[in-house]
Parts: sequence; C-alpha cells; structure tokens
Amino acid sequence: MVLVGFMGAGKSSVGAALSSRLGWPFEDLDQRIQTREQRSIEHIFRESGEVVFRQLEHAALRSMLQELGTSAKVLALGGGAFAQANNAALLNQAGITTIFLDAPVEELFRRCQEQPLDRPLRKDLDEFRRLHDSRRPCYLKAAVRIETAGKNVDEVAAEAIASLALR
Ligand code: S3P
Repeated sequence: MVLVGFMGAGKSSVGAALSSRLGWPFEDLDQRIQTREQRSIEHIFRESGEVVFRQLEHAALRSMLQELGTSAKVLALGGGAFAQANNAALLNQAGITTIFLDAPVEELFRRCQEQPLDRPLRKDLDEFRRLHDSRRPCYLKAAVRIETAGKNVDEVAAEAIASLALR
C-alpha cells in the first residue's frame, strides 16, 4: 500500500505504525531520494531546484515500484509526488492500493510547525493553503481516504488496515 497526502498528513509516522502492525517493510520515497543523491531534500531544492527534484522523485518511484514486484510493503510518498500525473500513472499501472491521509489545512500547517524538519515548500499559511487546495483534487483520486483530524497514529493505522480488508 502507498500513503499519499499533503505535508503534515502523517505519511511517515502512520507508515511506520502500519509496518510494525502488518510486519511489512516500510519505505519512504524522500528517504530513497536522499540516499541515492547523498544530500538532503532541502539541499536538492536549494542547489538544483524543484524541477530537478521532481525528476529525481519520479525516477526513485519508478525504481521503488520495480523492486517491489508483488511483495507486500508500506510506502510513503512526499507531499507533491501523487499530484504529479506521471507518478499517479506509475502507481495505477503497479496496481498498488493508494491511501490518502486527509486533514484540514490548518491542522496540517500546525503539525508541520511542530516538526523540526525543514520543508522547502512550507512557507506561510496562505501559500501552504494555496498549494494544498491546488493538490487536493489529485489526492482525492486515491482509492481510500482517511480523515486523520483528532486521531492518533495508531487509530489511523487501524483504519488503513480495515480499509484494506474491505477492498
Ligand atoms: C514536498 C513534500 C515533502 C518533500 C519535498 C516536497 C511537497 O515531503 O517531498 O519537500 O511538494 O509537498 P513531506 O510531505 O513528507 O513533507
């Protein structure tokens, strides 16, 4: 399964919880990009720009899915990945279940503020909201949507597992 959603959606933390509950390995796409590049996401944006980051992201997703084959794994994508049509197409072709972790934009912004992570595309709330609103129609194309507001990581993970069983 693959977790998608905006910055602050909880993709990495829910992914780790799902991994331990299901006993499936967990992989974060941003982590794969950083390992391949030997530099942080922040550095890639600063030194090479977003266009190059999106190319690296697409290549990393492609290799991730190739390696995946038919094995069970929990994947988490960066906030912009599923909003790129070429990435959504790759995931569709792979037939992997996509789960959108949803939350009100104010909550997403607040969660990001609480984390030490330096996110190049998290600017002020207005800009954050504009980007969120432009991407939300893409996230809604995921097979499953889970509302995460007011829920803890374990509750969200349990809902994700229940949604898989129902499919
Ligand atoms: C991005 C989100 C980040 C990371 C990069 C770009 C985006 O991932 O991929 O900074 O375009 O929203 P998180 O959603 O894990 O913060």
